[in-house]
Amino acid sequence: MSVTIRHIAHASHDYAMAVNLRRAVLRTPLGLDFTSAQLAAETTDTHLAAFEGEDLVATVVLSPYDDTTLKLRQMAVDDSQRGAGIGRHLLAAAEAFAKTQGKTRIILAARVTAQAFYTANGYVAEGEVFEEVTIPHITMCKTL
Ligand SMILES: CC(C)(COP(=O)(O)OP(=O)(O)OC[C@H]1O[C@@H](n2cnc3c(N)ncnc32)[C@H](O)[C@@H]1OP(=O)(O)O)[C@@H](O)C(=O)NCCC(=O)NCCS
Repeated sequence: MSVTIRHIAHASHDYAMAVNLRRAVLRTPLGLDFTSAQLAAETTDTHLAAFEGEDLVATVVLSPYDDTTLKLRQMAVDDSQRGAGIGRHLLAAAEAFAKTQGKTRIILAARVTAQAFYTANGYVAEGEVFEEVTIPHITMCKTL
Protein backbone atom coordinates (compact mmCIF):
# COMPACT_ATOMS: atom_id res chain seq x y z
CA MET A 1 0.00 0.00 0.00
CA SER A 2 1.33 3.42 -0.86
CA VAL A 3 -1.36 5.93 -0.05
CA THR A 4 -1.05 9.53 1.00
CA ILE A 5 -3.65 11.24 3.13
CA ARG A 6 -4.53 14.86 2.52
CA HIS A 7 -7.02 17.43 3.73
CA ILE A 8 -9.42 18.34 0.93
CA ALA A 9 -11.35 21.59 0.67
CA HIS A 10 -15.13 21.75 0.67
CA ALA A 11 -16.48 22.34 -2.87
CA SER A 12 -13.10 21.55 -4.49
CA HIS A 13 -12.54 19.02 -7.29
CA ASP A 14 -11.19 16.55 -4.70
CA TYR A 15 -14.33 17.09 -2.58
CA ALA A 16 -16.49 16.26 -5.62
CA MET A 17 -14.53 13.01 -6.05
CA ALA A 18 -14.93 12.24 -2.35
CA VAL A 19 -18.69 12.80 -2.54
CA ASN A 20 -18.83 10.48 -5.57
CA LEU A 21 -17.06 7.76 -3.58
CA ARG A 22 -19.30 8.32 -0.53
CA ARG A 23 -22.37 8.17 -2.75
CA ALA A 24 -21.24 4.93 -4.42
CA VAL A 25 -20.26 3.22 -1.14
CA LEU A 26 -22.71 4.63 1.41
CA ARG A 27 -25.85 5.85 -0.37
CA THR A 28 -26.60 4.30 -3.79
CA PRO A 29 -26.63 0.71 -2.39
CA LEU A 30 -29.41 1.88 -0.04
CA GLY A 31 -31.35 3.65 -2.80
CA LEU A 32 -30.47 7.02 -1.23
CA ASP A 33 -28.53 10.15 -2.20
CA PHE A 34 -27.23 13.29 -0.50
CA THR A 35 -29.34 16.43 -0.66
CA SER A 36 -27.73 19.67 -1.77
CA ALA A 37 -28.51 21.08 1.70
CA GLN A 38 -26.61 18.22 3.38
CA LEU A 39 -23.55 18.86 1.21
CA ALA A 40 -23.76 22.64 1.63
CA ALA A 41 -23.78 22.14 5.42
CA GLU A 42 -20.43 20.33 5.21
CA THR A 43 -18.57 23.60 4.77
CA THR A 44 -17.81 23.60 8.53
CA ASP A 45 -16.52 20.00 8.46
CA THR A 46 -13.00 18.68 7.95
CA HIS A 47 -12.57 16.41 4.94
CA LEU A 48 -9.73 13.91 4.66
CA ALA A 49 -9.00 11.64 1.72
CA ALA A 50 -6.53 8.86 0.91
CA PHE A 51 -4.95 8.98 -2.54
CA GLU A 52 -3.14 6.29 -4.46
CA GLY A 53 -1.38 8.37 -7.08
CA GLU A 54 -4.10 10.71 -8.33
CA ASP A 55 -6.90 8.30 -7.45
CA LEU A 56 -9.01 9.09 -4.41
CA VAL A 57 -9.49 5.69 -2.76
CA ALA A 58 -10.99 6.54 0.64
CA THR A 59 -12.47 9.45 2.53
CA VAL A 60 -13.82 10.50 5.91
CA VAL A 61 -15.56 13.57 7.36
CA LEU A 62 -15.03 15.09 10.81
CA SER A 63 -17.75 17.31 12.23
CA PRO A 64 -17.78 19.55 15.30
CA TYR A 65 -19.51 17.78 18.22
CA ASP A 66 -18.58 19.42 21.54
CA ASP A 67 -15.61 21.04 23.29
CA THR A 68 -13.73 17.76 23.69
CA THR A 69 -15.11 15.62 20.88
CA LEU A 70 -15.21 15.39 17.09
CA LYS A 71 -17.82 13.30 15.27
CA LEU A 72 -16.42 10.99 12.59
CA ARG A 73 -18.78 10.40 9.65
CA GLN A 74 -18.90 9.06 6.11
CA MET A 75 -15.94 6.68 6.31
CA ALA A 76 -15.72 4.99 2.91
CA VAL A 77 -13.02 2.94 1.21
CA ASP A 78 -13.31 2.09 -2.49
CA ASP A 79 -14.61 -1.48 -2.94
CA SER A 80 -11.49 -2.60 -4.79
CA GLN A 81 -9.16 -1.31 -2.04
CA ARG A 82 -10.72 -2.82 1.08
CA GLY A 83 -8.82 -4.96 3.56
CA ALA A 84 -5.47 -3.38 2.66
CA GLY A 85 -5.15 -1.21 5.76
CA ILE A 86 -6.35 2.02 4.12
CA GLY A 87 -9.31 2.41 6.49
CA ARG A 88 -7.06 1.97 9.52
CA HIS A 89 -4.57 4.48 8.09
CA LEU A 90 -7.30 7.07 7.44
CA LEU A 91 -8.79 6.55 10.91
CA ALA A 92 -5.35 7.14 12.47
CA ALA A 93 -5.01 10.36 10.43
CA ALA A 94 -8.44 11.51 11.63
CA GLU A 95 -7.45 10.83 15.25
CA ALA A 96 -4.15 12.68 14.80
CA PHE A 97 -6.05 15.66 13.36
CA ALA A 98 -8.50 15.62 16.29
CA LYS A 99 -5.59 15.81 18.72
CA THR A 100 -4.15 18.83 16.88
CA GLN A 101 -7.52 20.51 17.53
CA GLY A 102 -7.19 19.81 21.27
CA LYS A 103 -9.90 17.12 21.16
CA THR A 104 -9.67 14.06 23.40
CA ARG A 105 -12.50 11.92 22.04
CA ILE A 106 -14.07 10.74 18.77
CA ILE A 107 -17.68 9.63 18.55
CA LEU A 108 -19.35 7.95 15.57
CA ALA A 109 -22.46 6.08 14.50
CA ALA A 110 -21.03 2.80 13.17
CA ARG A 111 -22.87 0.61 10.74
CA VAL A 112 -23.21 -2.67 12.60
CA THR A 113 -21.55 -4.31 9.57
CA ALA A 114 -18.43 -2.18 10.26
CA GLN A 115 -18.50 -2.41 14.07
CA ALA A 116 -15.64 -4.96 14.16
CA PHE A 117 -13.46 -2.59 12.13
CA TYR A 118 -13.86 0.13 14.75
CA THR A 119 -13.48 -2.32 17.65
CA ALA A 120 -10.18 -3.47 16.11
CA ASN A 121 -9.11 0.17 16.16
CA GLY A 122 -9.91 0.85 19.82
CA TYR A 123 -13.53 2.10 19.63
CA VAL A 124 -16.04 1.01 22.26
CA ALA A 125 -19.76 0.53 21.59
CA GLU A 126 -22.26 2.46 23.72
CA GLY A 127 -26.01 2.01 24.11
CA GLU A 128 -28.47 0.21 21.88
CA VAL A 129 -28.50 -0.46 18.14
CA PHE A 130 -30.58 2.12 16.26
CA GLU A 131 -31.65 2.68 12.67
CA GLU A 132 -30.13 5.36 10.45
CA VAL A 133 -30.34 5.58 6.63
CA THR A 134 -32.52 2.42 6.81
CA ILE A 135 -29.84 0.16 8.40
CA PRO A 136 -28.69 -0.73 11.96
CA HIS A 137 -26.06 1.48 13.60
CA ILE A 138 -24.43 1.68 17.01
CA THR A 139 -22.72 4.60 18.76
CA MET A 140 -19.00 4.04 19.28
CA CYS A 141 -16.40 6.20 21.06
CA LYS A 142 -12.65 6.33 21.48
CA THR A 143 -10.69 8.36 24.01
CA LEU A 144 -7.57 9.63 22.26
C1 LIG B 1 -15.30 -0.46 7.03
C2 LIG B 1 -14.18 0.09 6.12
C3 LIG B 1 -14.09 1.61 6.28
C4 LIG B 1 -12.84 -0.54 6.58
O1 LIG B 1 -11.79 -0.07 5.76
P1 LIG B 1 -10.70 -1.11 5.20
O2 LIG B 1 -9.65 -0.31 4.50
O3 LIG B 1 -11.40 -2.14 4.41
O4 LIG B 1 -10.15 -1.73 6.56
P2 LIG B 1 -8.64 -2.09 6.95
O5 LIG B 1 -8.03 -2.88 5.83
O6 LIG B 1 -7.92 -0.88 7.39
O7 LIG B 1 -8.94 -3.07 8.17
C5 LIG B 1 -8.46 -2.86 9.46
C6 LIG B 1 -8.91 -4.02 10.34
O8 LIG B 1 -10.35 -4.06 10.44
C7 LIG B 1 -10.86 -5.29 9.91
N1 LIG B 1 -12.07 -4.98 9.17
C8 LIG B 1 -12.20 -4.11 8.15
N2 LIG B 1 -13.49 -4.04 7.75
C9 LIG B 1 -14.17 -4.90 8.54
C10 LIG B 1 -15.54 -5.26 8.63
N3 LIG B 1 -16.48 -4.71 7.84
N4 LIG B 1 -15.88 -6.17 9.56
C11 LIG B 1 -14.93 -6.72 10.36
N5 LIG B 1 -13.64 -6.39 10.33
C12 LIG B 1 -13.26 -5.49 9.43
C13 LIG B 1 -9.78 -5.80 9.01
O9 LIG B 1 -9.85 -7.21 8.89
C14 LIG B 1 -8.52 -5.37 9.75
O10 LIG B 1 -8.27 -6.23 10.82
P3 LIG B 1 -6.79 -6.91 11.02
O11 LIG B 1 -5.89 -5.77 11.42
O12 LIG B 1 -7.02 -7.89 12.10
O13 LIG B 1 -6.44 -7.47 9.69
C15 LIG B 1 -14.39 -0.28 4.62
O14 LIG B 1 -14.42 -1.67 4.50
C16 LIG B 1 -15.64 0.32 3.99
O15 LIG B 1 -15.59 1.40 3.39
N6 LIG B 1 -16.78 -0.40 4.10
C17 LIG B 1 -18.03 0.02 3.48
C18 LIG B 1 -18.56 1.32 4.05
C19 LIG B 1 -18.70 1.30 5.54
O16 LIG B 1 -19.24 0.39 6.14
N7 LIG B 1 -18.18 2.37 6.15
C20 LIG B 1 -18.27 2.55 7.58
C21 LIG B 1 -19.52 3.28 7.90
S1 LIG B 1 -19.73 3.46 9.66
